[in-house]
Amino acid sequence: MNYLFLFRMIKTSVGRKQLMAVTGLLIASFLFIHLAGNLLLFKGEDWYNGWSELLIANPATIYIEIGLLFLFIIHITMAVWVRTEDLINASYRKYDMSRWHGGRTIGSATMLYTAIIILVYLVFHIIHFRFADKSIGVYQMVVSAFRSPLFVSIYIIGSVALALHLSHGFQSALETLGINHIKYNVYIKIAGYLVAVCMVFFAVISLYFYFGLDLREIADASNIVEMTIE
Ligand code: HEM
Repeated sequence: MNYLFLFRMIKTSVGRKQLMAVTGLLIASFLFIHLAGNLLLFKGEDWYNGWSELLIANPATIYIEIGLLFLFIIHITMAVWVRTEDLINASYRKYDMSRWHGGRTIGSATMLYTAIIILVYLVFHIIHFRFADKSIGVYQMVVSAFRSPLFVSIYIIGSVALALHLSHGFQSALETLGINHIKYNVYIKIAGYLVAVCMVFFAVISLYFYFGLDLREIADASNIVEMTIE
């Protein structure tokens, strides 16, 4: 593989933005797969542990994780670089970047803050789930974490930050890569909002277990069993 193209891209400001866009879209793709896997929590312990054992047993997983780490590092480095450049250019032109200008959304105006929240959330998440003791089973580890109001609050804040970040990030990445047309921009905008809504499901999962909705299902099932025995 020719890694030189990466260095050539980093040299230009357009290249840096494109690199940020591509890595952002790849991270978003991982998040969809991760969300799909985590939705198996609703199917119960066997399904979720089965999925997680499949991942742990797969020799490719470690390489995917290392790849992901690189994607995060490149994305964050490019974001800091591009943002610093924009700030320097804006100060030359005496242009106030902190003010809300026409066409800005909450998502676009809060990109830096949501990025910081996501980063802090991610470090917390990796320490508690990736490097945790999984002897009780991954399902039990996740479900018992979601019984804690502190954990659930962190997941809600992280998911909302992710939704806001992607509501702007998705459309912006496509625009940077030249995927925009006056005819289709409205659909791209809608797709961006749909991506954002999907991210809220990470919070929904944590709230589902916090409110014990899984236990209610178990209780209902045992009531049915008791009734049929009687
Ligand atoms: C309901 C919410 C979530 C649950 C239940 C969850 C669950 C998990 C679990 C159990 C692991 C460890 C997997 C293993 O060691 O085999 C993991 C890893 C990971 N999670 Fe999450 N996660 C959630 C949300 C998120 C979000 C919102 C992000 C991104 C911002 C994220 C990013 C990651 C990453 C990067 C890893 C390490 C790579 C991997 O092992 O797949 N997760 N997650």
